[in-house]
Amino acid sequence: MVETTLELKKIYSEAADFMPLNGTDYLEFYVSNAKQAAHFYKSAFGFSSLAYRGLETGSKDTESYVVVQDKIRLVLTSPLRSGTAVGQHIDKHGDGVKVTALWVDDATYAYETAMKKGAKHYMSPTVEEDENGRVVRSGIYTYGEVVHIFVERKEYNGIFLPGFRKWEARYNPESVGLKFVDHMVGNVELGKMDYWVKFYQEVLGFAQILSFDDKDISTQYSALMSKVMSNGNGRIKFPINEPAPGLKKSQVDEYLEFYEGEGVQHIAVATDDIIKTVTELRNRGIEFLQVPKTYYDELNDRVGPIDEDIEKLRDLGVLVDRDDEGYLLQIFTKTVQARPTMFFEIIQRKGATSFGKGNFKALFEALEAEQDLRGNL
Ligand code: FE2
Repeated sequence: MVETTLELKKIYSEAADFMPLNGTDYLEFYVSNAKQAAHFYKSAFGFSSLAYRGLETGSKDTESYVVVQDKIRLVLTSPLRSGTAVGQHIDKHGDGVKVTALWVDDATYAYETAMKKGAKHYMSPTVEEDENGRVVRSGIYTYGEVVHIFVERKEYNGIFLPGFRKWEARYNPESVGLKFVDHMVGNVELGKMDYWVKFYQEVLGFAQILSFDDKDISTQYSALMSKVMSNGNGRIKFPINEPAPGLKKSQVDEYLEFYEGEGVQHIAVATDDIIKTVTELRNRGIEFLQVPKTYYDELNDRVGPIDEDIEKLRDLGVLVDRDDEGYLLQIFTKTVQARPTMFFEIIQRKGATSFGKGNFKALFEALEAEQDLRGNL
């Protein structure tokens, strides 16, 4: 397992540039109560009201609330009646991520190129217009029922997308300092990781930048394997996990069982000040996985000098790891909906471009402790 600057640079440059992606445009969650979910992401996670679509704007079947924090936009969508595709998705999977929207310059080109390279169709290029201009969107399936929607918005000046109106709200709590989506991880079925690695390589021109096997990511009881896919400019990173055989059920197995299929396991969001962000999140009721306090006794030997006060990190449960380029700080929330499926990671990078391999063991032991409480280990 090598994580050197030179190698990463070489691999990034190998990512094909036939599919230029500017960044993550938005993430859409299908949830059973969008109004309440939006309030949760505002009050607990520090998002603000941005846009709304529902009965008042002529949307008869679904209602969506859009919240924003710096570059992160979340769309929370619920059905307004029975028998909708959104409702069926929620019935099967519970609340979860349906759409990872990718910001492109040309959504028609992106769709046609992806389809030519073997993608599965979700949405043909569609022009949506209002008084603020036009947006073109198109979409393809990825693992499970998750889709990538390409968003071309260079001729649009509106608040979010045509069909949405500004969501005016008196209540907009202060940001907790979340800046952008650093990476988004998918859990896929046993034996399917390499299939999806190939999909990202061939259809979207991504390169595999890292790989972890069950020797890297295993505890006494369970194991998983992971490969990290990145686009050419490194702005979009999608690690993909698959379960590996172990003595007991792994966290990926538990996810697949309760999500009833493949899907998004966690969304990592970046901050410039993890101590401030996590303190604020904790004060607002967000619960985090806790590693054993002894983790911090060995921290200095493992990662060397860092700017942060280790006592503060110990109190909050923030983890640290180092690679050739620097270090990173990270922490994981408990799952954020009824089913033990999706959670968030808060990450602060101080040079490091890796994913916290040195923390995997402590982290997975913490995850398994939660699994055990649920009777799912
Ligand atoms: Fe992560």
